[in-house]
Amino acid sequence: MNEKTKLIQVGVGAWGRNLLRNFSSLPDVEVIGLCDESEETQEKLRKQFPDLAVAADYRKLLDNLEVDAVVIATPPAYHYEIAKESLALGKDVFVEKPMTLAISEAEELVQLAEENKRILMVGHIMEYHPIVVRMRKYIESGELGDIYYVYSTRVNLGKLRDVENALWSFAPHDISMITYLLREKPTRVSATGAAYLREDIEDVSFITLFFDSGTIAHIHTSWLDPHKIRRLTIVGSKKMAVLDDVEPQEKIRIYDKGVNIQQGYDTYGEYLSLRTGDIVIPAVKVQEPLRIECQEFVKAIKSRVPPITDGKDGLAVLRVLRAADSSMKENGTPHKC
Ligand SMILES: NC(=O)c1ccc[n+]([C@@H]2O[C@H](COP(=O)([O-])OP(=O)(O)OC[C@H]3O[C@@H](n4cnc5c(N)ncnc54)[C@H](O)[C@@H]3O)[C@@H](O)[C@H]2O)c1
Repeated sequence: MNEKTKLIQVGVGAWGRNLLRNFSSLPDVEVIGLCDESEETQEKLRKQFPDLAVAADYRKLLDNLEVDAVVIATPPAYHYEIAKESLALGKDVFVEKPMTLAISEAEELVQLAEENKRILMVGHIMEYHPIVVRMRKYIESGELGDIYYVYSTRVNLGKLRDVENALWSFAPHDISMITYLLREKPTRVSATGAAYLREDIEDVSFITLFFDSGTIAHIHTSWLDPHKIRRLTIVGSKKMAVLDDVEPQEKIRIYDKGVNIQQGYDTYGEYLSLRTGDIVIPAVKVQEPLRIECQEFVKAIKSRVPPITDGKDGLAVLRVLRAADSSMKENGTPHKC
């Protein structure tokens, strides 16, 4: 297929605008229609894009235009319905994270995409982030040794959501990033959290993922925090690493720090010796991860090869989110995922 991919986008809010900017700038994409239920947003879009069809209901665009692919950036409660109708009509679909709110809905979408031979991609952006891709190479090369544990912090004073809590809003990024880096899915999860500002919508969550390999991962998410932090720390048997996405340039640091276990020691103090070596800051070409993600969707449409963040990947993340949410409602009782 050499023609441009004809794309419509449903939901052009805070994040949707970024998706639209990126998809519009890709040479092999033609954005032909936009849908948003807000009249104010429709008005703005009509002014900004006078040549595009703008509608309040995505069905109007699907009925009247020749659409190849649908990008969904509405609040998560609508993802399932819009993705399902689009897949059923034979469209390729990009849906933002979290893929859906219920596991059964995500399972249905995966099945529908398979039956209709459609591309179903979930917006797990961290799996396309150049610093995360680079870190996976470091881990794979054995440079860090065995991974003992990792912890991720994603906090700021930010946009409060009405339906999904801070776990659902932020943790999809960390869960997808950590499982991508470790190439392993957690088998159990324990989470705690609390709702301070509004009833039943947790503003903060502390999630622990347990892996069969013995690795533990901890995730802290909050939209009620004085700091903006986007940081992942990885502690391995040979080296330690930190990814800091708020840092403008030096986003990865590899610390040659660890504890050596000595052979033939006389005292316990000699048995374990601390090692503090160099800190390496690899140069990573800073590219907008969202642009890479959008390019991957178009590549998948053209090649018919599913992207790494396909529906199954979205479903796997959702299983962890659901288990974490259930655990959080039971004050941290571990749940299988
Ligand atoms: N990948 C990322 O880093 C990232 C960052 C932020 C948000 N997101 C995800 O993007 C999605 C949208 O988040 P947002 O921050 O843009 O939310 P938002 O509330 O700012 O925007 C949502 C837009 O969808 C519109 N809308 C709601 N229901 C609709 C419907 N049924 N049909 C058409 N339009 C509808 C709203 O009018 C609004 O303009 C969410 O799934 C969110 O989790 C992803």
